Amino acid sequence: MGDPPAAKTFYVTTPIYYVNDVPHIGHAYTTLSADVLARYHRLRGREVFFLTGTDEHGQKVQRSAAEQGLEPIELADRTVERFQAIWEALHISNDDFIRTTEPRHRRAVEAIFRRIDEAGDIYPGEYEGLYCVPCETFWTELQVGEGGCPSCGRPVETVREKSYFFRMSRYEKRLLEHIERHPEFIQPESRRNEILSFVRQGLKDLSISRTTFDWGLPVPTDPSHVLYVWFDALTNYLTAPGLGTDPERFERIWPADVHLIGKDILRFHAVYWPTFLMAAGLPLPRVVFGHGWWTVEGQKMSKSLRNVVDPLWLIETYGVDAVRYFLLREVSFGADGDFSHRAFIGRLNADLANDLGNLLSRTVGMIQKYCDGVVPEPSEETALEVAFRERAEAVMVAQDGFMAQCAFQKALINIFELVAAANKYVDETAPFKLAKREADRPRLRTVLYTLAEGLRFLRLLTDPYMPTTAAKIGCQLGIPALEPGRPFNEVSRWGGTEGGQTIHEGPKLFPRIEEDRAVAIHEEVARLADAEEAPPEEDAVEEIGIEEFQRVSLRTARIVAAEPVPKSKKLLKLTVEVGGGEQRQLVAGIAQDYTPEALVGKSVVVVTNLKPARLMGVESQGMVLAGETPEGKVVLATFDEPLEPGCVVK
Ligand code: MSP
Repeated sequence: MGDPPAAKTFYVTTPIYYVNDVPHIGHAYTTLSADVLARYHRLRGREVFFLTGTDEHGQKVQRSAAEQGLEPIELADRTVERFQAIWEALHISNDDFIRTTEPRHRRAVEAIFRRIDEAGDIYPGEYEGLYCVPCETFWTELQVGEGGCPSCGRPVETVREKSYFFRMSRYEKRLLEHIERHPEFIQPESRRNEILSFVRQGLKDLSISRTTFDWGLPVPTDPSHVLYVWFDALTNYLTAPGLGTDPERFERIWPADVHLIGKDILRFHAVYWPTFLMAAGLPLPRVVFGHGWWTVEGQKMSKSLRNVVDPLWLIETYGVDAVRYFLLREVSFGADGDFSHRAFIGRLNADLANDLGNLLSRTVGMIQKYCDGVVPEPSEETALEVAFRERAEAVMVAQDGFMAQCAFQKALINIFELVAAANKYVDETAPFKLAKREADRPRLRTVLYTLAEGLRFLRLLTDPYMPTTAAKIGCQLGIPALEPGRPFNEVSRWGGTEGGQTIHEGPKLFPRIEEDRAVAIHEEVARLADAEEAPPEEDAVEEIGIEEFQRVSLRTARIVAAEPVPKSKKLLKLTVEVGGGEQRQLVAGIAQDYTPEALVGKSVVVVTNLKPARLMGVESQGMVLAGETPEGKVVLATFDEPLEPGCVVK
């Protein structure tokens, strides 16, 4: 991102979220990344202003409220509470929360509108074109073609009405020049290229007012029009710093250092927004970063799939820092990513429970055991200590570069390489052996000091990403987060503590999640994905025709062998005969209700044309049918009279 002037407040924003939708991980992702930047700069002693909020006007919100029998403001009030609850649970440290229905926002919108108007860049005209309400976006006929809205595919509406226009065409050259001269302005680079080619095709003037609905801010010079919702929404970035209300504060905070947004709303932020600002004579934001989109278990995040990645549920299930870590570690910030529970649990167990958690517990455990719970003072360093120290120092220094590029994934990989190096250092120095000989005591003290100091570095490094975990590390090591008034470059120097502090052994940082749990969640997700189109009511089962039922191949089968699946409490591996001498391997979640011995010889019903799936690494070539009691006991479906394997079940 380049270096901003040091004294200026570091200003980071998220998009303001529409209030017709409930918060999901897509929203959580943008807000979390902004939180990491905010915490990072605060830790280094910079003044920070971190803004998030809600976008409450526009036709989409008005329609959605009407459908629910609510006034738009009632819908907004309800949704705002949900967003705020999520931000609290996710430990988001925003300094302000802007709502576009607040009076201060109206003042800022009036201020920017008047500036643009005074520059002669707003004129009345007639708008005729195509509009997509869900996306609140105008499109040309060429863009729409046969396929509906180019962004969401839904039908667009033809709109013809009087409208005020913004003379965007006038800023085409200046915008191009700005993008070309400031390679950091639009990130990542692929998105910058998209915008460059969009602008090179020419900028048309933009309709910025509407008369066909009234849920919005009035055009200051003509209250019979409401402002286009994007004109209103983008201005939020100026409202909170104080445009129209607090000029001094505004001066200190604006321009934004970085607007973090999803790739879908890049054009608004990288084309419309800078041209509005140019017309208003205001400085442009330094960086607009368009991150990628999440899918869930490989599928588009539909309404029902959102439930399994509901941020509050995830936080309750796995813990807030595991969620924070996973979202930023799993994919590179500009790229699209997939949220899979297996991947989540894998990372949680490997990186957090094993690597980081064990490093802390073994270090603290050894200091307790060998040094009476007091971090020792070091004596002479050997090449091993020098190598480890240099690595820790290099990781600390590298963070600035990562943050400047919003490279959260790279930063976390780099930090966890230090965790791995620390674990390797324990293996190489074998402190438990050193403890056995009195003559090795000084060496033991150096090793334990080095580990404690390494963990103190990790405490500082992980703080922006996992603040609670970082605090726990600090607490167990007996070190304060940051002594007030002590500059970060001093605290982050190797040897920043001399030893002598008392440690406090505590609970594990991250409990391991059992793989069974992963399988259960995975199955639930697959079920939800399949049931995607099904009605939500449990007893309102969707009707299907006989042809659809006949597509399922059901056969009688005889169980010829059964054995537990290693490391699983729920699963059994079955070998079944399905007729014609053919044998199949199935994996069934029945281990809690059947022993392998009780199963051999039983006649069961098997779906034989199900796509093979792997469960806990074992292939399942079909599915055995069973019922479930209200208490959750699984009972296999069998027959009144014995039937040979391979008979059709219909
Ligand atoms: N209200 C506008 C923004 C106005 S900013 C001046 C808006 N709101 S939104 O609620 O629809 O989207 C907010 C953000 O959520 C966008 O950055 C969007 O990219 C992000 N996401 C929505 N779904 C997402 C995923 N599936 N994955 C990642 N981010 C996603 O647009």
